[in-house]
This record gives sequence, C-alpha cells and structure tokens, in this order.
Amino acid sequence: MSKLTLSPAWTALAAHRKKIAAANLTELFAVDPSRAERFSIEAGELMLDYSKHRVDAEAMRLLAGLAAQAQLPRWIARMFGGEPINSTEARAVLHVALRSDEASFPEGRDVMSAVRGARERMRRFVDEMQRGALKGADGRAIADIVNIGIGGSDLGTRMLVRAMRKFRKPGLKLHFVSNIDPADLEAVLAGLTPGTTFFIVASKTFTTAETLANAARARSWLEAALGKSTGLSRHFAAVTANPAGAEALGVPPERVLPMWDWVGGRYSVWSAVGLPVALAAGMSAFEELLGGARGMDAHFRNEPLERNMPVVLALLEIWYVNFFGAQTRAVIPYSEDLRDLPAYLQQLEMESNGKRVDRDGNEIDYATAPVVWGASGTPSQHSFHQLLHQGTHLIPVDFIVIGRNGDWSTGQAALVANALAQSAALAFGNPVPGAPHKALPGNRPSSTLLLERLSPRSLGALIALHEHKVFVEGVVWNLNSFDQWGVEHGKNLARTLLPRLLEGGDTAGLDASTRSLLARLRKRD
Ligand code: F6P
Repeated sequence: MSKLTLSPAWTALAAHRKKIAAANLTELFAVDPSRAERFSIEAGELMLDYSKHRVDAEAMRLLAGLAAQAQLPRWIARMFGGEPINSTEARAVLHVALRSDEASFPEGRDVMSAVRGARERMRRFVDEMQRGALKGADGRAIADIVNIGIGGSDLGTRMLVRAMRKFRKPGLKLHFVSNIDPADLEAVLAGLTPGTTFFIVASKTFTTAETLANAARARSWLEAALGKSTGLSRHFAAVTANPAGAEALGVPPERVLPMWDWVGGRYSVWSAVGLPVALAAGMSAFEELLGGARGMDAHFRNEPLERNMPVVLALLEIWYVNFFGAQTRAVIPYSEDLRDLPAYLQQLEMESNGKRVDRDGNEIDYATAPVVWGASGTPSQHSFHQLLHQGTHLIPVDFIVIGRNGDWSTGQAALVANALAQSAALAFGNPVPGAPHKALPGNRPSSTLLLERLSPRSLGALIALHEHKVFVEGVVWNLNSFDQWGVEHGKNLARTLLPRLLEGGDTAGLDASTRSLLARLRKRD
C-alpha cells in the first residue's frame, strides 16, 4: 500500500464513502433546501454548480483535507514561484507567467521581459497581417493562414479560433493541419491559392515528425506553384523554442517567435503558439483571453480550498476515480462553438496525469486520470446519452452551458433547456413503475459550469480553470503532471518501422504480429 492510500485523509474518505453509499441525490436535496446555493462557486464570469454530486458537507470537508494533506498551498506557491517542479526534466512550470501583468515575475527569476517582448512581436505581426501589409512571393496580400502543429501546438488554438467565431475580424481565414496523413493538408490546400497562403509552423521542439512532414509538403506545394524563389520564405512564420530548426526550414529569423522550456506544449496557448487566435480575433481579444486566465490564476492562489473552483473540480474527480471506481468523465459543451473543447481537454488532462508512477518513480496503487471524452450537446443526446442515463457505468458529466449571448433566441433557449434537462434527468431519474426498461435510476452525478457569455475573457478563465484542476490532481496523486515520456517510445518505434515498410529489410527482432502485418502491407500489386 502506498503512503497516500494509507494516509489519514484517504482512509477517512474511504470510510465516509461507505457511510454515504446509500444516500442518493434526491434525498440529499430533500434534506438540504440550500444545497444548490451551498454547493456552487463563482469566479469571474464562471459559475460552477456542483450540487448534483454525490457529496455532502462532510465529504467536501474531508476532500479539502486530502488537498491540505498533500500540501497543495505549498505546491501552488512553488509553481507560481518558478521552482523546477517538472522534476524529470528539471524545468519550471511557468505558463502562468504568459498571462501575468506583473512587472517582474516570478520572484528571483524574471521571465516577464521575454514574455512582453514576444507579445510585442505578436502584436506587430498581427497588425501587419490584418492591414494586408504582408505580401506573398507574387506580391499579393495574404488571405489564408494555415497553422501546422500537433498536440499542444494545435488543439488549444484550433479550439479557441472556433470558440471565438463571433469575435473574428473580417479578412483572414484560419485553417489547421496536424495529421501526418497527407489527406489532412491536402484537404485544406485544395481550396487555397498558393500566392495568398501563409503557413505558421508551431512546434516547441521543431523535431515533431508530423509537423516537419507537413511543413515540407507545404513548401513543395508553394514551390510547385510559385517556383523555387527566396520569396517563398515570405509565406512562413514559426513558433518554437528551437529557432535553429525553424531557420533550417527557411523561416526568416524575424518571423521565428519564441517558446521556452518552462512552458509545456499543452499549456502553451498563451504564448505565441496562440498566434492564430490573435490573427483571427485581434490582439486585444487575445489580451482579453489572457486577462480571463489571469483572473482564474488570482482565484486559484487566493481562495480557500473549499471555495476554490479548480480545487473543488479536482477533488470531485478524485472522489469518483478513487472512491467510486469511475474510469471516465464526459465533457458535454452545450455550444457548437465549444465543440472542440473535449479534444483539447483530452490532451491537457490525459497527457498530464495519465501516469502510473509517482514523483519518486514508485509504482502507485491508486487510479489516476480518467478517460476524458465527450461531444457537443444536443447531438450527443442522440448518440451516447442512452448509456449515461441507463447504462451500467458511473460516468460523472461536466455540462458546459453558456448564458445569454445577447437576448435569448428560441434556439439558444432550447439549447440551454436541454442541458438543464439532461443534468436533472441524470440526477433525479424517472421511475416508471412496471416498465423497468423505461425507468431512469438517477443518482448520476454532474457539474454544470455556467459561462455568463462566450467571450475571450470567459474562455481564458475556462482553460485556466482546467489547467489548475489538472495541477491539483497531480499534487494529490503525487505525479509530475508536466512530462509526457509515455509518448516517446511510440514515436521512436514508428521511426524504425518506416524504412521497413518502404524498403523492406530486416524484420528480425520485431514481434510476430508486427512482422506479419508489415509483410502483408508490403505485398502490393
Ligand atoms: O505528443 C507529445 C508532444 O510532445 C506533446 O506534448 C506536444 O504538445 C506535441 O507532442 C507537439 O510537440 P511540439 O510542439 O514540440 O511539436
């Protein structure tokens, strides 16, 4: 048994879990008329209603005790203080600096002059693009921008550009390509004109196979149409912590924007990696996004554990994963504009906390990050909600609901009504005497996260909320949430299989299944 599962806070929670096992949500609401108010938290433009969770005041108190036992306040101070808490890579974790407005931050190691310098370069670039001052090789103004990147260099910006649809400036069109499958780039380029197309190659390392392959293909596409001129470099910018890699691809140094080793890829949307967001919605909207995140940072640093939104969300997840055996969590934004949020959260949460050894390298005996999945409502209702309501798995759900974007339209009100209906149906069920196939058992937990409106500010807060939630979970589970070594082996294997697939050759040493699949795939007409 690990220190954590033997600890007083953990064993108290396990005992309390047994005690409230029989209580259901209908009863919990019946005994406490103020439950909805009591189990809700406001932070800026966000409101979290967590009353439809299988917790009582004692459970929340004990969960906060678990966070205190893990010395969460000290860890928060360590992160904001720039200590190298990414221990396997000996790096600080300072994505919070990217949205800071402090003159110097953190104490003892100021990164703000670099951050401000990069923001200024972003501003100039965005301005140039939006004025149509940036011309391609044949002298025409740029009209389409393709972001080439993957994982943290793609998912956040892709999600935000869609989510900020209503704030988009007229003119430039944004596109995203991530897959090494040539079909991804091909499909995007099919509608574009080489002379007016610009590529942003976003890669912290500039060694990622998918991104380098797509960047090379993009260059060949331009060459085929515009010839091999030096003017082609006018079609590229890069965002990277490896400027030499970008320059080797022919990106002019003045268009290589910085990244730093103290920002993890999946936490990098606040850096110049967020350039597509600023290009789509303008630099002031990007700054609003940073402001929203900054507000959540302040809330996270200052609010007591039991009133702290990221902390409470994290503790609820821990409650279900570790004390109810939940293996997944569904995220259902009732907003088409937030359709890409589940995919973004998948990387943020599963790449950060999908770990099986603790910070000291010891194998652990408790579950960590659940599988995160989801899709936008209402289409999700006609796909997987049957299982949520009547299936055999316990799946906590996060409903993300947007309040008034101006006046209610009937359609928008119908959308919100559906979200509320789903969370109520999950919690309180529907007994249908004599027809068990029609009955909904209820007692299925969900959070409702209400955004007053979908704005750059509320989006910034929403993302920062999840970043901090992931951090809190990592602290309690005693994980390093900021590395991702599990991804490396697969990348290396693919590298060794590629020549064998193309040219054949020695397959000794490979497992029998891979050998036979290779042989079959090489047998062409
Ligand atoms: O999948 C592993 C990973 O390293 C992610 O953490 C990262 O976001 C992604 O690849 C892309 O990396 P890069 O920005 O260096 O191309």
